[in-house]
Amino acid sequence: MKAQRLAWAITGSGHYLRESLAILQTLQDVDVYLSRAAAEIIQQYGFQAQLEATGHKVYQDKTASSVPVERFYEGVYHTLVVSPATSNTIAKMAYGFSDSLVTNLFAQAGKTRVHSIVFACDTAPELESEAPRDHMVKVYPRHIDLHNVGLLKQFADTDVVEDMDALQDAIMQRLAGVHAVHLHAGVEVSEQQAV
Ligand SMILES: Cc1cc2nc3c(=O)[nH]c(=O)nc-3n(C[C@H](O)[C@H](O)[C@H](O)COP(=O)(O)O)c2cc1C
Repeated sequence: MKAQRLAWAITGSGHYLRESLAILQTLQDVDVYLSRAAAEIIQQYGFQAQLEATGHKVYQDKTASSVPVERFYEGVYHTLVVSPATSNTIAKMAYGFSDSLVTNLFAQAGKTRVHSIVFACDTAPELESEAPRDHMVKVYPRHIDLHNVGLLKQFADTDVVEDMDALQDAIMQRLAGVHAVHLHAGVEVSEQQAV
């Protein structure tokens, strides 16, 4: 059995982009997927070097059919992380759209029963958010934004986390579980070989 990997999708959000990249830097066996907006926002915030420093392979949203999502059907991934997730992507995911790379990843993860962990930007009615060039702005997510996050919380095989500590904990829990499965699979293989 080939060890499975983690897929991490980044959307076009400045909110907690820096922190998401910092967590990505600590992980191994990850493929990164960028929405078209994420590719722009990473440039605007000057975070291209941080993305490259993670050393992970990066997939861009270049095809209408989201070609890379076939990797879910090949069993490549054990988990999908979407962080940070914009109001736009949350709304589409909550209503079942799959018309972009990131919304397709979430849809295909669901259809292949791969667990998803989502950090939605809109966690509260009032937020402080990082804007380009290192300054903070006030953001007031609308009722519809918070409602959509609530809808997503009802999805099967999906954890919607509220902050970076919860994101890190959820990822660590998944990795521990997957590691145990891999170890177990390895034991089965060697026992069979011994017989
Ligand atoms: C500088 C900048 C920062 C942004 N930050 C956020 C954000 O924190 N949260 C959000 O929901 N949208 C944010 N946006 C808007 C999204 O990038 C925009 O809605 C985009 O269409 C999202 O596309 P995606 O969901 O496919 O990534 C930001 C836009 C700009 C220009």
